[in-house]
Amino acid sequence: MNHDLGSIATALVAKGKGILAADETVPTLTKRFDALGIQSTEESRRTYREMLFLGAAEFISGVIMYDETIRQKSSGGVPLAQLLSDQGILPGIKVDTGAKHLAGSSDEKITEGLDGLRDRLSEYRGMGACFAKWRAVIRIADGLPSTACVSANAHALGRYAALCQEQHLVPIVEPEVLMDGSHTIERCEEVTGVVLHAVFQALFEQRVVLEHMLLKPNMVIAGEACSRPAKVQEVAVATLRCLRRHVPAAVPGIVFLSGGQDDRTATAHLNAINRLPGPKPWNISFSYGRALQDPALTAWHGRDENLKLGQQALYHRARCNGAASLGTYTD
Ligand code: 13P
Repeated sequence: MNHDLGSIATALVAKGKGILAADETVPTLTKRFDALGIQSTEESRRTYREMLFLGAAEFISGVIMYDETIRQKSSGGVPLAQLLSDQGILPGIKVDTGAKHLAGSSDEKITEGLDGLRDRLSEYRGMGACFAKWRAVIRIADGLPSTACVSANAHALGRYAALCQEQHLVPIVEPEVLMDGSHTIERCEEVTGVVLHAVFQALFEQRVVLEHMLLKPNMVIAGEACSRPAKVQEVAVATLRCLRRHVPAAVPGIVFLSGGQDDRTATAHLNAINRLPGPKPWNISFSYGRALQDPALTAWHGRDENLKLGQQALYHRARCNGAASLGTYTD
């Protein structure tokens, strides 16, 4: 495998492929398991991740893991990172330590994890990771986001990305404008533009090489409680317009998060974006968590006899999203 950062970044957005985000923390995955009555243990989480990792190599270029997972071995005794690379899938790792309350703000968060990051990156690199992820969250509400929240999170993303490149990992830069709330699609476009502008300014200040990173943004979408939900075509047009205005052409790929959209909607949006005419200087694909995993988790339901069904569910959704990344998906 070619380990230069440019090759890894472009391999992650190879035609017809995208990323599986399987990097939920233990508490988050436990919440997802609880909702279906599945017991969350180190062993059940490993079984679930192994099922996913063996399920979709054809359409998955890379997998983002959580710290617990990258240290685990498959049922056959193979480190899970190696299980991925043996199938030609690039292993990735979530390296932030979570979004914490932002000092002096009413209801906003700052993502932490910069202290000691250089050493952690070096350790993950030694375990086979080729790329990393850091997620910042921005909430829209009356008077929010604050400038303090946007600039602190953008700065942290810049520091993280520069450290990744120094340690020979491709950074995935994820500024997520949440879809929680009743805001309109227009407001989401405005805030997403402000956030992307701040993030690329911070990346520039920290001397991040844009050719050696990927952007993982939200789509431009109305808040889930908005009285005027946006149509698929509206989301596609607003999202591409916003990205064209704010994302330099040197970035090789844009991989969307799903952010709470259901699996079919997330696929339809990605497909519609890729079908739009006009310049798209980056490959546009997916780095979905819930929208890829939910059907597989439901089909598996914690039972060994359902492992095949879980893999089939993941395979189907990954194939749909692979097609959507080419704009060739048909419902
Ligand atoms: P969702 O697609 O469920 O938003 O997860 C993607 C992700 O990696 C969030 O950090």
